[in-house]
Amino acid sequence: MQKLVILSGAGISQESGISTFRDANGLWENHDIMEVASIQGWHNNPELVLDFYNQRRRQLVEVIPNKAHTIIAQLEDQYEVTVITQNVDDLHERSGSSRVIHLHGELYKACSEGNKNLVLDWKEDIKLGDLAEDGSQLRPFIVWFGEDVPLLDLAADMVYDADILIVIGTSLQVYPAANLIHFAHNAKRKYIIDPHCQDYTVPSDFVKLAMKATEGMAKVRDELVG
Ligand code: OAD
Repeated sequence: MQKLVILSGAGISQESGISTFRDANGLWENHDIMEVASIQGWHNNPELVLDFYNQRRRQLVEVIPNKAHTIIAQLEDQYEVTVITQNVDDLHERSGSSRVIHLHGELYKACSEGNKNLVLDWKEDIKLGDLAEDGSQLRPFIVWFGEDVPLLDLAADMVYDADILIVIGTSLQVYPAANLIHFAHNAKRKYIIDPHCQDYTVPSDFVKLAMKATEGMAKVRDELVG
């Protein structure tokens, strides 16, 4: 089977009703990114950070995967698919994708403030005073600005081995994730699907599809599956 790698960002979940970060009315228009999504922000005001991620977690219950997620899951019938996502939602998993690498963490997990390897499944709000088994405060299992991206090397290996790469719904502004598109040395087909992709700088062998995720994935599926 050919290896198909998806690199997804917030835009793929937009049609499910989850706000992106940097679009008009995106999350970073109404929240200070360094206050709620950095390790310093956590040290300065953990309650504010918990509240931000508790809201995101609560919203997840109200949304469902869209057609773009579903098409990606269905491509497993013809391809060995690996999804590398910057998203912290679980919509890829819920639509049936079996191999998902969450570069920036997962909303439905919590970890110990003292040891990020101590990870728990967690669907409720996290409150100050909720402790991990090592006695440390629980925190969202999110890779914040100022922290390492532990799954980066694994993701880079996957992209390097890909026969086909589809980049979807990401502004490619956050590093090191954005760098992954340059590792696809062996891919014979590369696509970027994003309404604004004409403005983005990507290597010249990418096919740019300036479309919403659902529409773009349907088009690529028709090309790949026939
Ligand atoms: P951004 O908000 O930066 O970019 C979202 C992208 O989705 C933009 O390029 C939009 O044009 C596109 N978009 C909007 N609606 C779309 C739709 N219906 N279909 C397809 N594309 C659409 O989100 P990311 O690139 O994912 O990290 O952001 C990367 C990281 O920045 C996030 O993981 C998060 C954030 O800070 C952390 O918080 C650590």
